[in-house]
Order: sequence, then structure tokens, then C-alpha cells
Amino acid sequence: MCGIVGYLGKRNSLLILLEGLKRLEYRGYDSCGVVLSNNEEIYLYKKVGKVSELEKEVKNKNLDGNIGLGHTRWATHGGITENNAHPHYDCSQNIFLIHNGIIENYQELKEKLKKKNHNFYSETDSEVFAHLIEEYYKNNDFENSVLKALKEIRGNFAFVIFNKKEKDKLIGARFSSPLILGLGKEEYILASDPSPISLITKNVVYLDDGDMVVVDKNKGVKIFSFLNEKEKPLVIYQINWQIDDIKKENYEHYMIKEIEEEPKAVFNTFYKRLNFERLETNLKELNEIKEKLRNIEKIVLTACGTAYYACLYGRYLFEEYLNLNSEAEIASELRYRNYPYNEKTLLIVISQSGETIDTLEALKIAKKRNVLIIGIINVPGSSITRLVDKVIYTQAGPELAVASTKAFLAQITSLVILMIYLAEIKGINLKNKKQIFEEIKIIPEKIKEIINRKEEIKKLAEDLICFKNFYFLGRKFQYPIALEGALKLKEIAYLHSEAYPAGETKHGPIALIDENFPVFILAPKDSVYEKTISNLEEIKARKGKIILISDEAFEKADYVFKIPKSLEIFYPFLTVVPLHLFAYYFAKILGREIDRPRNLAKSVTVE
Ligand code: AGP
Ligand code: GLU
Repeated sequence: MCGIVGYLGKRNSLLILLEGLKRLEYRGYDSCGVVLSNNEEIYLYKKVGKVSELEKEVKNKNLDGNIGLGHTRWATHGGITENNAHPHYDCSQNIFLIHNGIIENYQELKEKLKKKNHNFYSETDSEVFAHLIEEYYKNNDFENSVLKALKEIRGNFAFVIFNKKEKDKLIGARFSSPLILGLGKEEYILASDPSPISLITKNVVYLDDGDMVVVDKNKGVKIFSFLNEKEKPLVIYQINWQIDDIKKENYEHYMIKEIEEEPKAVFNTFYKRLNFERLETNLKELNEIKEKLRNIEKIVLTACGTAYYACLYGRYLFEEYLNLNSEAEIASELRYRNYPYNEKTLLIVISQSGETIDTLEALKIAKKRNVLIIGIINVPGSSITRLVDKVIYTQAGPELAVASTKAFLAQITSLVILMIYLAEIKGINLKNKKQIFEEIKIIPEKIKEIINRKEEIKKLAEDLICFKNFYFLGRKFQYPIALEGALKLKEIAYLHSEAYPAGETKHGPIALIDENFPVFILAPKDSVYEKTISNLEEIKARKGKIILISDEAFEKADYVFKIPKSLEIFYPFLTVVPLHLFAYYFAKILGREIDRPRNLAKSVTVE
């Protein structure tokens, strides 16, 4: 899940590489490295740890080079060591490369190359590719040797490669891992996502699976498929992310900045897609598939992690309002199942990054079976957006903290819009349409009210800091939120936290309850309020410590965080916010690496 960036142009590549890597660090932060070259020298620096440490080391060395590569690693093959850090190189130290992904047949290739006297210094799969290119480079044709090497590897990968002997050239290639080309004025940048590219240009070309790109200072850009060797036209898009969106400003962490942006994410996602006077949606993006959508009889939602919880929310929503058979499936499972899709199934894939490999693969399988697919995606131009039939973009803006927060809110917002749209085109009379539209107008304000009370949550985290286990319980629309609360705490505070449908506790989990087991109960005054409160009573009877999140006070709870009143489908927009804040403050008090928790990466592009 590494972040990769390569630069070729007129500036000192070091500054761009370092700044680019800082922006890509959310993708992995086990180790990092850069290589750059001017006409005489090659400078290669690697470091276990963060980009800021690498920066400290190279800053005052006056390094200069108009071509360079940078990498921030999330280790898959080989431990977290300096040797295993990228960039990697061949025996002759002419070919340098950075890699994101996995070369599945690397062992077999390594054995063959060893027999041909190649010496390996790292345990990575990535290094093998440098030697493989070297093997073919004997005929001195760089481009062709990369092409031949690409045909021999299996797996998923994005590479950027340069050759000390041809310093006017960068080669990139991708299969299943992301790679985007930025076209500046006499300068080029290849990167895993648009954030480093926005340093020099807004003009980008999204590479597809099987693409190889050759960027030559003198001859310009050539893109072709390494699968069939056919050349492809350059299709240039404009990225609209502002550099300021990526800055941390005065916030200590991206995560808290992004939680504070939740009202804006909800507002921006609703905005322009609803006509409040006519009580109608305006989902132009779906016009072309309107007829097909009218006929669907089943909805399958799929994603991973937090985005999967948004799917679960969608399932309750579509069943309740559209009376449609709906399923939410974890993408890493769905992709290996023989799922009974038919021509009346709609698949909805949800992803912040648009790059999650399991989600991508699940969608590819459905695509082969001609299933109609809508993506709810945050990152423009990401791999998933280019494979689905239509995209509904969530308007959360760049999300950089590994823990997803505002993107989740924007995902459930998109599902509400889609639900209203499907009701319209299917001629379903929404039971409380007017109220829904009224609530949409004020929900961002209600979220803001909760964020303004963040000190209360901070105090709650301080009070509970001695506990090591937590349950999160909720029923119906609150169940996905319970899952989200537990995942956040696990991810960034490294605590044991589990979520259950509140009614399920008595079937086993309640056995753990005693006075040392705090339980978050999500019980807004919705259709299952009384049932959830009965579960609260059951836990209280066993001396469990209860933190109730509700718009109703309840004397048996040890702590109540009151949220504003709302409609059943909008309560999740409110109950999730204190849980995001709680995980944040809990992790902060424990001194965790909030934006970059151990063992994780934001964009999971390996299986
Ligand atoms: C959320 O906090 C996690 N970091 C993770 O579960 C994430 O939601 C999941 O990996 C899916 O990512 P995506 O939305 O980019 O596809
Ligand atoms: N397989 C490579 C390594 O372990 C790249 C890993 C990745 O992209 O996450 O270094």
C-alpha cells in the first residue's frame, strides 16, 4: 500500500519528492527513501521511519537532481529495514525503481535470476523487478527491457523506474495498483494519488490497468498497453483538489481536522443534488442508467472497513424505504463467493480512496457478469471510478488520517440521496418525504452542535482511560454506528473494542460484563428505542458501566451524552460524531500515533 512519486523536469526533484511523500505517507510509513540524479551523481537515501526524519537527514546536503523517485513503504515482503526500503536497484546500480503492490511470482523469478548471477541485497519482491529489467537490458533498450520484464510478472503493481544511463526518461506501469501522471510545463510527475501532483499541475492522465507510460524530456509522453502493445491517446483531466485542503492548518492531527469537517462533508454532498422546493433529487450523474435502475429488484452493497458500515446503513435504508431486497457484503468475502447476481441486481460499491483492492476485485467480478454498478467514491479519478457504470462522488474533500471519519458521513449522505432518487424513479411514495427534506437542511448544523461540545467527550475519555475493553451496542440503523465506534477505537487507540447488535448481547457477549466493562449504548428515540433500553437494563443488572448516547436522558446510565432530536435515518449522522471524537481523545491521551496508527495504511491496495 506504499506511496510512490517520480519526478522529471527542470526543478530540484528532492523538494517535490519530499513534499509528495509527506502527502502520501498515509499509504504506509514503515520506511521511506528517495533517489535522485543530476548529470554526474546518483543520490540514494533510505530510512526506517517517517519522511520527516529522512528530510532532516538530506536537507542540508545540497542534493540536486532533475530526475528522482520517492517511496513510502507499507511492508508486505521483507521486514521493516533500511535494506528493504525502496528505491530498489539492480546489480549494476543503473536501474532504480519504486513499487507499490506485490509481485506474486517473485520467488520463482528470484531463483532464476540468482542462477544468472544476480545478487540480491533485500528480501523484497520489488528488488527482483530491477534485476529482471537488468537481465533484459543487455541489449541496451531500456523501454523494451521494461516491457519484457512486465510480461513476466504476476500480481498487482505500480512502478516508476529510471535508468542512470538515460536520465531524460521515466517509465511508469500499473496493474491493479494506482498510478497517475501529472503533466506540468516541461515537467512530469507520476504518483499514487493526485496529492503530490497538485504541487506542480492540475493536468492529469489516469493510467489504466496494463498501461505503461514512457515520459521523455525531449520526446514527450507515450502511453501504451504492455498487454497488447497498442498505443493509447492521452486523455487529460483536471484535478479540482485545492492544495489548502491537504494542509493540516493549526490542527494537531488530520483526524480532528477531518472530524470538524464532517458538517461540511454532509452539506457539500447534499448540496446541488436536492431541490428543496420541489422535494426532488437532482442526480444528473445517473441519467444514462435511469431506465435500468427503474427495473432493479435487488441491491447489493459492498466495501471494506468503515465503508462497509456505510453499506450496512444503506441496507437498512433501502429495505425500509424502498422495500427492496438489499444485502451488505464485505468485499474481501464477496469476491470469493459465487454470488447469485442477475440482470435486476444493482451493485453499489463504496470507497473513500477508490483504490481498495478487495472492493476493486469484487466489482471486477460483477462487471464481468454484466451487473449494473454504481460507485460512491471520494477520490476523483481513482481506479474504482473508472470501472463502475456511474459514480456518485462524495464531497468530503481529501481525507488523510488513516481513520476514516468525514468520508463515512459523506457516504451515508450519498445513500440517502440515492434512496430518494430510487423512490422517485420507481414511483414509490416516501412516507415522510417533507420531513426528510426539512431534516437534511438542518442536519449539518446539528452535527456542528455536537462537535462544539467536544470538551465533554474529551472529559469522558479522561474518565474512562483506565479501561481496556469496550462494547458498542446498537440496533437497526445504530448497529453500523456501533461497529464504526468500535473500529475507530481499535484502530487508533489499540484497544479491544467490539460491537454487537444490542439484541445479540444476551446470546453470549454479556458473559463478559462486570463493573470493569464499559458499554456504549446507542439509543436515540427511534423505532427500536425501547428494545435497546431493555438491553441497557440487562447490562446494568450485571453492573456494566453504561455510556448512553441518546436524545433522551435515562437515569440508569452512568453517563449520558445527549444528541439533538432527529429522524430515525438521520440519527446515525449524530450518534457517530461523539464516537469519532471519543476514539480521537482516547488515543490522544494514550499518546498514540493518531493519523498513522501502527500496522495500518489508509489505502489498502494489497490483499
Ligand atoms: C477506517 O477507519 C479504516 N481505516 C478502513 O476500515 C477503511 O475504511 C477501509 O480500508 C476502506 O477504505 P476505502 O474507503 O478507501 O475503500
Ligand atoms: N511489496 C513491496 C514491499 O514490501 C511493496 C509493498 C506495498 O506496496 O505495500 O516493499
